[in-house]
Amino acid sequence: MAANARKPVIAGNWKMYKTVAQTVQFFDEFKLLVRSASHCEIVICPTFPALAAAVETARGSNIQIGAQNLHWEDEGAFTGEVSGPMIRATGCSHAIVGHSERRQLFGETDETVNKRLFAALKAGLTPIVCVGETLDQRDGGKTETVLIQQLEGGLAALTAADFCRIIIAYEPVWAIGTGRVATPETAAEAHAVIRKKAAQQFGSELAEALRILYGGSVKPDNVAGLMARPEIDGALVGGASLKPDSFAAIVNYPGD
Ligand code: PGA
Repeated sequence: MAANARKPVIAGNWKMYKTVAQTVQFFDEFKLLVRSASHCEIVICPTFPALAAAVETARGSNIQIGAQNLHWEDEGAFTGEVSGPMIRATGCSHAIVGHSERRQLFGETDETVNKRLFAALKAGLTPIVCVGETLDQRDGGKTETVLIQQLEGGLAALTAADFCRIIIAYEPVWAIGTGRVATPETAAEAHAVIRKKAAQQFGSELAEALRILYGGSVKPDNVAGLMARPEIDGALVGGASLKPDSFAAIVNYPGD
């Protein structure tokens, strides 16, 4: 598959923001602003309580809904957790797995990322698997090693058929919520490392078809520069996905 055959994905990660009412209000405005966007897939990941309302208000539009996390068991005595089948039953199509905030603040490891990845696939959700280095790791020249380690652990035992169903997000921790976006060159370099690693594990043809998103301080004014790089297949957007006009400006990056 040629590199340009990969359809971009622009995904919004709302983190712990927005009530159900605020979610519905967002969609009412946002749907109109992106209704003619067909150059990319649009995914929004609200909080768990707002998933069903988001699915309902997005119905019939070009917007898909995802969760921000999921537990690896289908059900059980796991207070406070939410499972893949429960998320799928709301009408969601995607789930973020292994976001760096989960890794840093909630004890996520490559092993638990791997379990959640399998749970998402089993539930019929498209996993958006996040990887990325901290500033210390980058400054210490360890970026490549860290990415490879996260991929080896996170994607362990994945079959080629399942690999075709995943999306990867490269999210350098130092760029998340800091306003310090990676340059398109820096991001593209990391994406090349990820694709090379994927090619070693799954073969170059499948690796060529893998969508790799960049995440970390993506804004309306830097998205076009990032998307101009053939290695960058989309964006995972935090802060700038919370307002209909700014997220629409990101989605509509190619302009008229
Ligand atoms: P940011 O977050 O766009 O606010 O930097 C990105 C993310 O955490 O996915």
